[in-house]
Amino acid sequence: MIMIFLGPPGSGKGTQAKRLVGERGWPQLSTGDMLRSAISNGTSLGLEAKSFMDKGQLVPDSVVIGLISERIESGDCQSGFMLDGFPRTIPQAEALDKMLLEQGRKVERVVLFDVKDNELVRRLSGRRTCLKCGSMYHVEFTRPSRDGICDKCGEMLVQRDDDKTAVISKRLEVYHQQTAPLVGYYRKQGKLRELDASVQPDTVYESLIKALS
Ligand code: AP5
Repeated sequence: MIMIFLGPPGSGKGTQAKRLVGERGWPQLSTGDMLRSAISNGTSLGLEAKSFMDKGQLVPDSVVIGLISERIESGDCQSGFMLDGFPRTIPQAEALDKMLLEQGRKVERVVLFDVKDNELVRRLSGRRTCLKCGSMYHVEFTRPSRDGICDKCGEMLVQRDDDKTAVISKRLEVYHQQTAPLVGYYRKQGKLRELDASVQPDTVYESLIKALS
């Protein structure tokens, strides 16, 4: 199955996708993770992306479409995958439909993670991430056993540059202007399932499994 996790920054798309990778083995294709990896590898694509990400703006469509079109051709994506953070604009969604059609495939399910803006600010400003293994924590909700240290690999936890308050507001504005129109795009195609993602992660996971079945 080809699934899209759609929703504002901080709505829990990555948290739930990582759990599904662990429990179901479906590949998670996160454009945010791909871009951060390009930044830490110091590639020219990473350098270009960083200038947009640090300001809370979207990276140009051509860049992320190129990343995804290459990735979905990999062997591990042949029987399905989860898209986390892509598409984020109507041109990205149209490009995805076109590239899948050329391969005789299509998006089957789009899950919208619904959370109010004030809760998103709380989640993003408190998020701490392990740069080594990608595990996520929160200073209030999911604290590591030792402050600032990843439980899984012992690495130091950091706050993402775009999780600073001023950038969070810009990311939310960009979501409402450029990404929210995708809700109508996929609703018209009859693929959209909405879930209340403001509740506990385990409850969100149960709703997600139902939405995908
Ligand atoms: P990206 O990395 O995709 O960030 P995002 O969409 O802004 O998503 P987040 O990772 O911030 O949130 P999430 O929904 O995954 O929530 P999470 O599970 O982490 O993109 C970063 C940037 O890259 C963009 O701004 C843009 O510049 C660029 N980019 C990426 N893709 C692009 C594209 N397609 N086109 C153009 N540019 C692109 O959870 C957040 C926090 O909440 C965590 O601390 C977590 O522990 C906690 N939490 C999760 N669930 C719950 C819950 N149910 N209850 C309480 N706390 C919870």
